Amino acid sequence: MSHPIIAIIGAGNMGSSLIGGLIRNGHPADRLWATDPRSEKREELKETFAIHTTGDNAAAVQAADIVVFAVKPQIFSMVAGSLHEAVQLRKPLVLSIAAGITLSSIQHWLGGNIAIVRAMPNTPALISCGAAALYANEEVTAEQRSKAESILRSVGVAIWLSDEKQMDTVTALSGSGPAYFFLMMEALQQAAQQCGLPEETARLLTLQTALGAARMAIESGKQLDELRHNVTSPGGTTERAVTVLEENNIRDVFLKAVQAAKQRSEELARLMEGKGQG
Ligand SMILES: NC(=O)c1ccc[n+]([C@@H]2O[C@H](COP(=O)([O-])OP(=O)(O)OC[C@H]3O[C@@H](n4cnc5c(N)ncnc54)[C@H](OP(=O)(O)O)[C@@H]3O)[C@@H](O)[C@H]2O)c1
Repeated sequence: MSHPIIAIIGAGNMGSSLIGGLIRNGHPADRLWATDPRSEKREELKETFAIHTTGDNAAAVQAADIVVFAVKPQIFSMVAGSLHEAVQLRKPLVLSIAAGITLSSIQHWLGGNIAIVRAMPNTPALISCGAAALYANEEVTAEQRSKAESILRSVGVAIWLSDEKQMDTVTALSGSGPAYFFLMMEALQQAAQQCGLPEETARLLTLQTALGAARMAIESGKQLDELRHNVTSPGGTTERAVTVLEENNIRDVFLKAVQAAKQRSEELARLMEGKGQG
């Protein structure tokens, strides 16, 4: 099966990391297009990846089987609206990675009857360790689903949702999640420093512990509570610390944080919808 021609509209942080991921996964460079308004950026992309580049979004759409929208949500309606004709002519699979932009908005801006997959990636995609969720509209075929999935899988893991509304919870979990872990690591490092460790020692031990715990959770395939019980001996140090965390309602704090982020994601999606369709 030949590789589809993929056009990335907006080769910024996320767009460029997708290009890098696709190429590392064997996607031929000559079957990739990237668009960006800045010519220096286009030159850089051409030099790094030897892909096709253009400042003309419609030209890239005309060449493509799959069009990835990787522009900022604020300009999505303008960019999609300007590509309405090219998209209707070519009828590519559209993949959007823009936060908070709904399938119905994209369909509206592109003029209807387009196969669209909406994805929510996260920042670690920039180092090929991303976590993305996807949702497809009814026009998307099984083959197109697998192609969209493989684009996201080139920079991490990708998982399908059964309801588009779940995107707001995904945004609150994996979208905003890296910041929660940064905060936890920051707090742990500070605590260790206050308990007597030098800064660099506290930092390195914190980061490696976080990485080790995540890798154990992924690689062992065990449930998180089982892993926790395995390292919590009765009467030991870990048990003492976990009791303090539970007594201080750590689960409730996380629930409130995720609920607040989900609510904000819903608000922003409504704002964006109003802006583009108003
Ligand atoms: N970064 C993340 O961790 C993350 C996570 C989840 C979702 N996302 C989504 O990914 C999308 C891209 O985010 P990002 O962080 O990669 O942003 P970014 O680095 O700003 O990338 C957007 C790119 O689009 C270019 N652009 C602007 N106007 C354009 C136009 N008319 N046609 C084509 N390209 C245009 C920008 O060029 P200029 O710089 O010259 O304006 C920039 O290079 C957003 O919708 C965001 O919601 C990002």
